[in-house]
Amino acid sequence: MKKKILVTGGAGYIGSHTVIALCEAGFEPIIADNYSNSEPWILDQLTKITKKKIKNYTVDCTDKDGLKKVFKEEQIYGVIHFAAYKAVGESVENPLKYYQNNIGSLNCVIELMNEYGVENLVFSSSCTVYGEADYLPVDEKHPIKKAESPYGYSKQVCETLISDCLNSNQLTRAITLRYFNPVGAHTSGLIGELPIGTPNNLVPFITQTAAGIRKYLTVFGNDYKTDDGTCIRDYIHVMDLANAHVKALNTMSETGKSITLNVGTGKGSSVLEAVQSFEKVNQLKLNYRIGPKRSGDIEQIYAATELAEKTLKWRTEYSIDDAMKDAWRWEKNLANK
Ligand code: UFG
Repeated sequence: MKKKILVTGGAGYIGSHTVIALCEAGFEPIIADNYSNSEPWILDQLTKITKKKIKNYTVDCTDKDGLKKVFKEEQIYGVIHFAAYKAVGESVENPLKYYQNNIGSLNCVIELMNEYGVENLVFSSSCTVYGEADYLPVDEKHPIKKAESPYGYSKQVCETLISDCLNSNQLTRAITLRYFNPVGAHTSGLIGELPIGTPNNLVPFITQTAAGIRKYLTVFGNDYKTDDGTCIRDYIHVMDLANAHVKALNTMSETGKSITLNVGTGKGSSVLEAVQSFEKVNQLKLNYRIGPKRSGDIEQIYAATELAEKTLKWRTEYSIDDAMKDAWRWEKNLANK
């Protein structure tokens, strides 16, 4: 029998790509989503890609009784917990929303795992826990810095919550993945990122500008101490990130190990390099302007990837060029939705 994996936030950006990776690896994903930042039609797209109907529950993961139904009805082997809010700016304006949802949902998930004897957790964290890094590439031993936003702090609290529960045996094992910058879309063009309103993140802003939805991209600052003056990030293709989750489940069952890992490519790209990559692979000119720095942006960050590669027996397979091609295919398909 296939192992059932509960994917909270499974209709969301990273969640939906992970559902595909799970199916390909022979797991049975079960989605729990409240569609607060995703769309139910993504489920139909998943069916088109996987040729399977993915079992799904409409439920808010802070609703313990609602979520309990899933644990009761399904023999769950592991949980991948994506469900969380992720807009940094919004978290500054409405911190209660972020603490309540991001910490509350993890709390509920672990309580239910404990109650139903579910042993394996994969948790979505973020490189935001490192803040402005003291050295690069940043590795997992780097100190955790004071969070720049309630969103960032919610991820730090969740990481601590997990390690406390592991220490007290309220949780059996967990792999925490610190994501760098997820970009791109599934190569089918059927699923991808669905930003609500004006995108905050670079790649959806680029694709919306190319599609004519936005007039121009503002590059936030070009006088940083980097080669071309723009900020550097580690852009990882969402399918590579999705595969890391599958490998994390396999690692836990093979080794029984709990660990926290960076999930990035190890390669930093500047904002202008990202723009150039988009222009090159899609043979387009992007309308962009240099604007002021965005408050709270860190100058540069990219991942040390050795520990993840060794532990998960995983490597990235896609480049930023692949991601830009896939993101544009998705944006064009979205225009016809
Ligand atoms: N950028 C622009 N113009 C835009 C949007 C972004 O120049 O319109 C630049 C940013 O200044 C930054 C880079 O593109 O240098 C990437 O910005 P994103 O907003 O896409 O990503 P961030 O690195 O700021 O944010 C990511 C995650 C967050 C996480 C944060 C931690 O999306 O969830 O890293 O640093 F909190």
